[in-house]
Amino acid sequence: MKKLLVTGSSGLIGSEVVGFFCAAGWEVHGVDNNMRKDFFGPPGDTSWNTQRLLKQHSNFRHHERDIRDRAGLVELISEVKPEAIVHTAAQPSHDLAASRPYDDFDVNAVGTVNLLEAVRRTCPETPFVHMSTNKVYGDAPNRLDLVERETRWDYADPAYHDGIKETFSIDHSMHSIFGASKVAADVMVQEYGRYFQMPTCCLRGGCLTGPNHSGVELHGFLSYLIKCNLEGKTYKIFGYKGKQVRDNIHSFDVAQFMNQFIQAPRVGEVYNLGGGRDNSISILEAFTLIEEISGEKMSFDYVDQNRKGDHICYISDLSKMKTHYPKWDITKDLRATFIEIYEAWRKRR
Ligand SMILES: NC(=O)c1ccc[n+]([C@@H]2O[C@H](COP(=O)([O-])OP(=O)(O)OC[C@H]3O[C@@H](n4cnc5c(N)ncnc54)[C@H](O)[C@@H]3O)[C@@H](O)[C@H]2O)c1
Repeated sequence: MKKLLVTGSSGLIGSEVVGFFCAAGWEVHGVDNNMRKDFFGPPGDTSWNTQRLLKQHSNFRHHERDIRDRAGLVELISEVKPEAIVHTAAQPSHDLAASRPYDDFDVNAVGTVNLLEAVRRTCPETPFVHMSTNKVYGDAPNRLDLVERETRWDYADPAYHDGIKETFSIDHSMHSIFGASKVAADVMVQEYGRYFQMPTCCLRGGCLTGPNHSGVELHGFLSYLIKCNLEGKTYKIFGYKGKQVRDNIHSFDVAQFMNQFIQAPRVGEVYNLGGGRDNSISILEAFTLIEEISGEKMSFDYVDQNRKGDHICYISDLSKMKTHYPKWDITKDLRATFIEIYEAWRKRR
């Protein structure tokens, strides 16, 4: 049986990856210390997800470990000897990072180096997939010319119609403390590829979503928005007239791409991984779609102040992913994804 090691295995992406590879017959080792609860309080608790995975998959092993524990990681990886590694453990919130910069950097940047170095020492030939973020581009995408449409902002320049490519600058912009710690990790993952010839890649995620998100106000756009609709809670829009655009990708399609990379790894690669133009939506448009699905009106407040450095319009250009891995494509459209998240929240309640 092939072995996969997944960090952040109880989170949104990690748990999807666990399910995907367990179903494909791998023995999957998860590393998660439920630090999301420490970051976001009880609504961020992911222990329900750990229990679900243990119950559903006999080929899943959970390791309650902290990726900040350098020696612990070397020990675990030498013991497991995985054939592939997927690194999703992180402090994932833009807003939270500013109040906990040490924790943010220790987990996102240093935790990633701990893992890279443990892999280099014990199994350097193992494909290493790192979840990065589009926040590595900082607020530079906001400098693109935009047009205001009735319900959304859009790129004015047709060269950006399909979205932002991996060649976009990550320099000379405001990243937020979170974005900067993720840049550090992203560059180190590339460097371990180029310098040590390890098969690594960074996936610069747009909005990743799915039914297993413990969505909270500070992280998990669609999951939290849909939860608000279901519970009749007021959703707060921060600036940009509610027309800010995100491209959303279902966590299953993320796991699918990781699988393609692991089957045919490359060295030190970077991919923008999002839903692309077809799966892009503004907050106002998301309200309309969830109202159609649930039949409930969305209650919201408008705060005329955008979040610092928040993207106005972000769409990932998926062409590099599709060229390198032609078997991969988006399989879940927005409506299907909304329905899955809505149903999952209903069940969890
Ligand atoms: N969800 C998104 O919209 C999105 C967008 C772009 C990029 N990303 C990136 O994808 C990755 C996964 O995001 P997610 O949405 O699944 O986040 P998540 O918070 O749902 O999952 C992260 C998991 O990591 C665990 N964790 C945190 N610190 C840890 C530590 N020190 N040791 C061990 N485990 C730890 C948490 O408990 C949590 O279960 C992150 O790197 C994030 O930056 C996410």
